[in-house]
Amino acid sequence: MVSEPAHSLITVERLTRHYRMGPQIVHALDDVSVTVRPGEFVAVMGPSGSGKSTFMNLLGCLDRPDSGRYWLDGQEVAGLSSDALAAVRNRSIGFVFQSFNLLPRQSALDNVMLPMVYAGVSHAQRIERALAALDAVGLLERAGHRPTQLSGGQQQRVAIARALVNDPLLLLADEPTGALDTATSLEIIGLFQRLNRRGITIVLVTHEPEVARFASRVLHFRDGRLIDDLSQDAEVAA
Ligand SMILES: Nc1ncnc2c1ncn2[C@@H]1O[C@H](COP(=O)(O)OP(=O)(O)OP(=O)(O)O)[C@@H](O)[C@H]1O
Ligand SMILES: [Mg+2]
Repeated sequence: MVSEPAHSLITVERLTRHYRMGPQIVHALDDVSVTVRPGEFVAVMGPSGSGKSTFMNLLGCLDRPDSGRYWLDGQEVAGLSSDALAAVRNRSIGFVFQSFNLLPRQSALDNVMLPMVYAGVSHAQRIERALAALDAVGLLERAGHRPTQLSGGQQQRVAIARALVNDPLLLLADEPTGALDTATSLEIIGLFQRLNRRGITIVLVTHEPEVARFASRVLHFRDGRLIDDLSQDAEVAA
């Protein structure tokens, strides 16, 4: 009987995810074990198709492994039903994606309020918390703007505010700077660092070494396997 190590936010053990494509089996994630402590800022790197997004979707409770175990903040989640997983996801995890995924016809404020619809929070409280999240990403004065009225970097800030609004333990970001120019990427990574200093744990996928150098730890994947796990002195972005 394996028990979950103390003081870990994430523990995965021998996590495996296969896809069957006709006669072929794709080993998207193959026997991955790793622990992340609260407050870490972890970058995930590796070539295209190496399993990074598969790993993130499992960490984010968007998908379930074929085998292996996963403890999030002390709770074993790998075997939960999809309803129970959705509850864990909504309560504990914020997501940021490369393509922002904002609702185009809604204001920044409405987009940020969205995750609270399911959280049983009053309307007044929802507005208050969404404004606080927009303030935390430096976009309070843009609360009434729609995504088309914002730059790419500003749209990503709205998406980050939306990810933060339920006060998650863990922020998962899959190539959050992939659609942004270098200067804007640096701004966004600086924002992640400030949020991390305030205590939120971050796991972030990136292709770019210039982004990964701001993390305190880098996991390298290849062919679905975790091949390297390096701690480093993170550079300070801003
Ligand atoms: N739904 C799916 N069905 C079949 N195969 C899949 C599916 N999702 C992922 N794969 C396969 O699993 C492997 C890992 O994919 P994954 O998306 O995790 O890679 P990645 O490291 O995120 O790549 P990228 O850098 O291009 O985003 C790839 O070979 C991919 O084709
Ligand atoms: Mg990917």
